[in-house]
Amino acid sequence: MTTWPVHAEIAGPIVMIGFGSIGKGTLPLIERHFRYDKSRFVIIDPDDEARALADQHGVAYLPVAITKENYREILTPHLTRGGGQGFCVNVSVDTSSLAIMELCREIGALYIDTVVEPWPGFYFDKSAGPASRTNYALRETVVEARRKNPGGTTAVSCCGANPGMVSWFVKQALVNLARDVGDPGAEPTTRSQWADLARRLGVKGIHIAERDTQRAKHPKPQRVFVNTWSVEGFVSEGMQPAELGWGTHEKWKPANAGEQTSGSKAAIFLNQPGANTRVRSWTPTAQAQYGFLVTHNESISIADYFSAYDASGGLVYRPTCHYAYHPADDAVLSLHEMFGQGGRVQEKHHILNEDEIVDGIDELGVLLYGHAKNAYWFGSQLSVEETRRIAPYQNATGLQVTSAVLAGMVWALENPKAGIVEADEMDYRRCLEVQTPYLGPVVGVYTDWTPLKDRPGFFPEDIDESDPWQFRNVLVR
Ligand SMILES: NC(=O)c1ccc[n+]([C@@H]2O[C@H](COP(=O)([O-])OP(=O)(O)OC[C@H]3O[C@@H](n4cnc5c(N)ncnc54)[C@H](O)[C@@H]3O)[C@@H](O)[C@H]2O)c1
Repeated sequence: MTTWPVHAEIAGPIVMIGFGSIGKGTLPLIERHFRYDKSRFVIIDPDDEARALADQHGVAYLPVAITKENYREILTPHLTRGGGQGFCVNVSVDTSSLAIMELCREIGALYIDTVVEPWPGFYFDKSAGPASRTNYALRETVVEARRKNPGGTTAVSCCGANPGMVSWFVKQALVNLARDVGDPGAEPTTRSQWADLARRLGVKGIHIAERDTQRAKHPKPQRVFVNTWSVEGFVSEGMQPAELGWGTHEKWKPANAGEQTSGSKAAIFLNQPGANTRVRSWTPTAQAQYGFLVTHNESISIADYFSAYDASGGLVYRPTCHYAYHPADDAVLSLHEMFGQGGRVQEKHHILNEDEIVDGIDELGVLLYGHAKNAYWFGSQLSVEETRRIAPYQNATGLQVTSAVLAGMVWALENPKAGIVEADEMDYRRCLEVQTPYLGPVVGVYTDWTPLKDRPGFFPEDIDESDPWQFRNVLVR
């Protein structure tokens, strides 16, 4: 039997908010890798059906919804009872990451989440303009909170697979690329050095390039949205405007692009839903493929992190960065059905668990493109078979997320006074050291593919042949 390392001690209570696919998968990893007082571990989720699993693990279960009105009153005693530094693991939907994070910092409890989640209403507010429904807007609230209150108790924002782990992959990929092209520089230690490295290597952009090939035993029934992780989470982000970190090499912009007016302005958005916006991308298994340009925090945080400025503060380099997501085939069909019905989401939702999947991998990595070696994909190719062997209650998609939560928790315990951080600012080596045993094969692959390959086909196309890596060539129109 494998002996799993105990990475750290959690001295105070643990509160897990949300016990859906990610919460259930995170629980066994917490049990395996931390020392803590089990009698002070509580899971909070309004869905009483999940209680049986918590009971089986001897973890207290509070079947209530955390709301704007009750979060202080419920969370404060649970996070402080019995002394020692508490830890809040927020893996729910419909709770404000910002509000809970700020409360945790006030009472000195560590905090981690996997997305900047708003209170209910944000995603489907028809009176809000598209700019205010973006992840840019959500992220800015966290950036602003940090600006107002720098330092202090660590709160890790957006630390799942993506956002999260992929930011660590970007750094590893840059280091590998630097080695392979014979770049003489030392490994960067600061944000501006990382940006200089990406710029020096000529990286024009980064796709978060994912292909989920997990196949269900039973075909998708009509009128059911099937996915390998939160349907609610996916539909919410998929109905937000498509959004991307906007690089300095871009020469063309779609006519329906919108710009932000305050903050870093690292991203633009398109006036169309991300899950109905296709881009050309590449992963090792799929090779060339269409992915959806769904908005994600990392598209903005990575573009922002790797921005380089001149002495007078002028922007001189920024990579384009966006998600290119080919979800499981059943999820692609579900989206097709949903958009066919005017974007009205199916009433029935289903998340495939590990026993309902025949086979497949979640191939999730970063594609760094536009440099001397054209393009380099670096990422995880975790299979559902391996997942079943190494961790209970989750499929391959889930384990890539929960193992990132584990890594983020370890890092927070080792750096308890780092303030509000995103994955880009964490020690990527330490985080990947903790996470890699759960990622299956982690590989780096060069490719000569570009978004202009085999184009134009039978019909004339609006393409830019002078630079294959223009967004004009990437976006499917
Ligand atoms: N960064 C990443 O890589 C990544 C990947 C997957 C999921 N996520 C995010 O993680 C979160 C959880 O995903 P999931 O797949 O477990 O979703 P899920 O839909 O399976 O579970 C969400 C859980 O939250 C609970 N919940 C709803 N309202 C609540 C409230 N007010 N208070 C407490 N709990 C509440 C639900 O009952 C449900 O059990 C989502 O926000 C999702 O977007 C991030």
